[in-house]
Amino acid sequence: MTKRYRIGNPIPTGAVVTELVPAEGPLPYFTADPAAGTLALALNDEDIVYGLGETVRGINKRGFIYVNYNADNPHHTELSRSLYASQNFLIRFRPGGKTFGVYFDTPGKITFDIGFTDYGNMLISFEDFDADVYIFEEDSLPGITAALRRLTGKSYVPPVWAFGFGQSRWGYRNADDVRAIADAYEKAGIPLDMIYLDIDYMEDYKDFTVSRERFPDFPAFVSEMKTRGIRLIPIIDAGVKAEPGYPVFDEGTEKGYFCKCEDGSDFIAAVWPGLVRLPDVLNDKARAWFGDCYAPLLDAGIEGFWNDMNEPALFYTPEHLDEVYGKIRDYEKEELGIRSFFGLLDCVNGLSNNPEDLRRFFHSYDGRMIRHDKVHNLYGFYMTRAAAEAFARRGIADQTMLFSRSSFIGMHRCSGLWTGDNSAFFSHILLNMQQMASLSMTGFLFAGADIGGFGGDTTGDLVLRWTEFGIFTPLFRNHAAHNTRDQEFFRFPFTEAFKNMTDLRYALIPYLFRVFTDAAEHDGLYMQPLSFLWPDDPRARGTEDQIMLGTDLMLAPVYTQNARGRFVYLPEEMKCLRLRSISDFDEEILPAGDHWVRAELAEVLIFMRKGTKLPLHQAGRHVSEITDEIIHTFCF
Ligand code: GLC
Repeated sequence: MTKRYRIGNPIPTGAVVTELVPAEGPLPYFTADPAAGTLALALNDEDIVYGLGETVRGINKRGFIYVNYNADNPHHTELSRSLYASQNFLIRFRPGGKTFGVYFDTPGKITFDIGFTDYGNMLISFEDFDADVYIFEEDSLPGITAALRRLTGKSYVPPVWAFGFGQSRWGYRNADDVRAIADAYEKAGIPLDMIYLDIDYMEDYKDFTVSRERFPDFPAFVSEMKTRGIRLIPIIDAGVKAEPGYPVFDEGTEKGYFCKCEDGSDFIAAVWPGLVRLPDVLNDKARAWFGDCYAPLLDAGIEGFWNDMNEPALFYTPEHLDEVYGKIRDYEKEELGIRSFFGLLDCVNGLSNNPEDLRRFFHSYDGRMIRHDKVHNLYGFYMTRAAAEAFARRGIADQTMLFSRSSFIGMHRCSGLWTGDNSAFFSHILLNMQQMASLSMTGFLFAGADIGGFGGDTTGDLVLRWTEFGIFTPLFRNHAAHNTRDQEFFRFPFTEAFKNMTDLRYALIPYLFRVFTDAAEHDGLYMQPLSFLWPDDPRARGTEDQIMLGTDLMLAPVYTQNARGRFVYLPEEMKCLRLRSISDFDEEILPAGDHWVRAELAEVLIFMRKGTKLPLHQAGRHVSEITDEIIHTFCF
């Protein structure tokens, strides 16, 4: 049963699709302190807290503090309180006791202190104490996540080719660079369905433009790649270059579709193109207009997009830059002591994504002008919604792949997400896995991370180990930052192993896509913690580095360097598959309990539950070549 309670007077978010009449009586479970703007919830020793979607640390969120306020954080670590997304959903799982879920529907900042200050207490602080609070009481954990989906709508399903492998890199400069990547993959015999175009494809980083110099005949190039079985997936950024003569800027300005300052003047900030304006995607008309701006790329044959910098990320605003210059001049007057030295550093580092800047602009939303920070968490969702609604108007929503960096519950209906700028850390393989579980809980099924790590120079073994998990994530993409070491699969000595893993992915796509569409259709989970299936098993409840794919397979990726295997906990008897390729594997039935399982660098582990059939299909180098023919079926 799902009940709605209202605190204050919340600004609508668009997350909820099923209207519920507010329930009688006070909000259960929580102790509200309206003066402090908090809700408190006692946690006992056994309690586990799930949810929050894309956040750092484990699947059990207990013990840390999270701030749901979408943030561009390219150097995130275990200490980062905010990432690109805000999914305000939690489950308090009380083994043997009363378990419930809760969704806080509000577009502003919320801080979740989940036993960080006091291990026995969860304190939720709202910047504005206004929210619709939905309480879900069901008799199982998957029942609770299904109830959230009934409230907020079905999950997005991309076209099946989106399950193919995609190669990306910030730094492919021109058509020849892209051709060279396609050639190298072809030569190595590694399947490839997409090559991503990062900001370098644009003319001066202007959205919806393509550099004529670097891509002289773009539509012809799109179709040349398509005949090779490869789709090009361009990036779209939130900021529109402020340059008179650039049609998107001119039209948006003329129609008043960009965000404004309180006095009605233009709000200007800076991102990749230099000075930009932000489309007011919260305004229905502006959103429709921005969505229609994707048309020239669609007309050129593009069938998929990734929306970026839509927290929105702001490098600086001219006003704030002036303030900082002023302060620097003050610092200049005296010799820098320890305090002033760090003061200077902080003041320069605080230029980007400065919270003050988020209070400088307004949206025309919900019939009034609303200051951005009050609805901050909606921006990425609404930018992506702009695209999705435009695709729907063209009748191509189900043929178009779409994912975004910033997100909010509700966006799961029209788009997937990727988890932003991770790093070439082994620990980020584990983070990827843990985020996948939490994202599935909040309805984001089409998700994935930058395989190999976005930031920093990666290593071949890290990319391979990450790929061994990535072949199971719906979005399967290798992406890296500019100025980092090349990390395409063919760059490393174990190219054969990369080929084998990618072949395995393709042979599994019919199975994976079925698990995915089943989860989407029935409000289920694509990936989930073991406790969702074995809630009464204390060991399963404590397992954070193994994950269920659907309900029948368990994954236990290796995420430590130089490891040649790992410990695995089996809640029940399972069949362990150790795969080197689609035709080279061994199988072993293992009893319930603890095992050390060998997994050499080029081996991936899959654990099957009893009654499972796992087919490998005849596949080729592209998703379109996968056939109904089954080359092998693993049975247990
Ligand atoms: C952001 C994105 C990253 C992209 C870069 C350049 O950092 O998260 O994926 O490569 O911008 O566009």
